[in-house]
Amino acid sequence: MRIGILGSGLMGGKLGTIFARAGHDVVFSYARSRKKLERLAREAQGNAQAGTPGDAARDADAILLAVHWSRVDDVLKQAGDVSGKTIVTCSLPMNADDTDLVVAHTSSRRATCEKSSTRSRRFRVRHGAE
Ligand SMILES: NC(=O)c1ccc[n+]([C@@H]2O[C@H](COP(=O)([O-])OP(=O)(O)OC[C@H]3O[C@@H](n4cnc5c(N)ncnc54)[C@H](OP(=O)(O)O)[C@@H]3O)[C@@H](O)[C@H]2O)c1
Repeated sequence: MRIGILGSGLMGGKLGTIFARAGHDVVFSYARSRKKLERLAREAQGNAQAGTPGDAARDADAILLAVHWSRVDDVLKQAGDVSGKTIVTCSLPMNADDTDLVVAHTSSRRATCEKSSTRSRRFRVRHGAE
């Protein structure tokens, strides 16, 4: 399976590495340094490469969205058309300093994500309430 990683920090970097070592094709994207993405791809030791969010989304069978809540719109904009893609996310709807939920009091993370990316197939949420 080809898996695009949007957000290559603690979560995206680690999960992408696990996916690559399990035999999947992985594209790491969205960090502040291209060198970091290249290092992750090299150290994953599988069929992994560094790219832009557009590269990660293009031809992906699944996308891992793993950015801070405040970066979701930006990374999805950079990813381009994700219509029909399956997107799995671990991103939690937290404020800038990660001290409080920003949407779960009145809405849900799932509803907000789907609004950001209306035609993607689904968001799977693995942590906390949807
Ligand atoms: N860490 C956990 O244990 C955990 C557990 C469950 C859920 N979550 C949630 O998962 C999401 C990701 O968490 P994380 O811990 O993986 O976060 P993180 O380590 O901060 O990773 C975020 C990624 O986004 C990149 N990024 C941030 N701003 C950017 C910008 N302006 N331009 C380009 N790239 C940018 C970061 O780049 P750099 O690599 O250059 O910093 C990093 O690669 C969050 O919503 C968090 O709440 C985290």
